[in-house]
Amino acid sequence: MSIIKACIFDLDGVIVDTAVYHYKAWKHLANELGFDLSEEDNEKLKGVSRVRSLELILQWGGVTKTPAEQEELATKKNGWYVEMISHMTPAEILPGAKEFLETCRAAGLKTALGSASKNSMTILKKINIAGLFDAVIDGNMVSKPKPDPEVFLKGAEALHVAPAECVVFEDAIAGIEAAISGGMKAVGIGSPTVLTEADLVVSGLNEMSLEKLSTL
Ligand code: BG6
Ligand code: MG
Repeated sequence: MSIIKACIFDLDGVIVDTAVYHYKAWKHLANELGFDLSEEDNEKLKGVSRVRSLELILQWGGVTKTPAEQEELATKKNGWYVEMISHMTPAEILPGAKEFLETCRAAGLKTALGSASKNSMTILKKINIAGLFDAVIDGNMVSKPKPDPEVFLKGAEALHVAPAECVVFEDAIAGIEAAISGGMKAVGIGSPTVLTEADLVVSGLNEMSLEKLSTL
């Protein structure tokens, strides 16, 4: 029998595909600063905090900014991003995500969100699934970004379960690393050739089942 008592889900790339909105907003900012941002560059920003993403983008563009200017730029990007996510609807929930959350809860498993995004609650409300989580830990509640396990350990604590009783669902390498270093099982959402450290990799939550969970 599996010892799993709780499932902790990343948001961006697992429940919804917001990477496209992050990309549009960062690209807009880069263009204003006089350079471009490729989709390939954007891949490297998945799971990376807002502050660190900006640092990387400025580095790629060869642009130097003071800390105060960087704060201003991050705020500007977030304004565009928030405007885009304000139009999100439940139709944008990735295939199988809502159903798998419901399946877990019906089986008595606890559920939490563990995301780097400070906009997590806005998105959960827009897609109308906030009620499917027993706890929500987001970028406003952590001080150390993934691959530090802080976000997931806080999730386990909020659910009153031990880290070893948790499985994390993540699309980013840094997120898989965070789960493993926190002593949790990790299910990768994406490609097995990228998420090599994960205990199991599926292409989306529509491929998950209680049976697969029980093998972890
Ligand atoms: C992660 C995304 O979930 O959240 C990153 O994968 C993003 O791309 C990070 O930078 C922080 O998000 P936000 O909404 O707080 O800017
Ligand atoms: Mg993600």
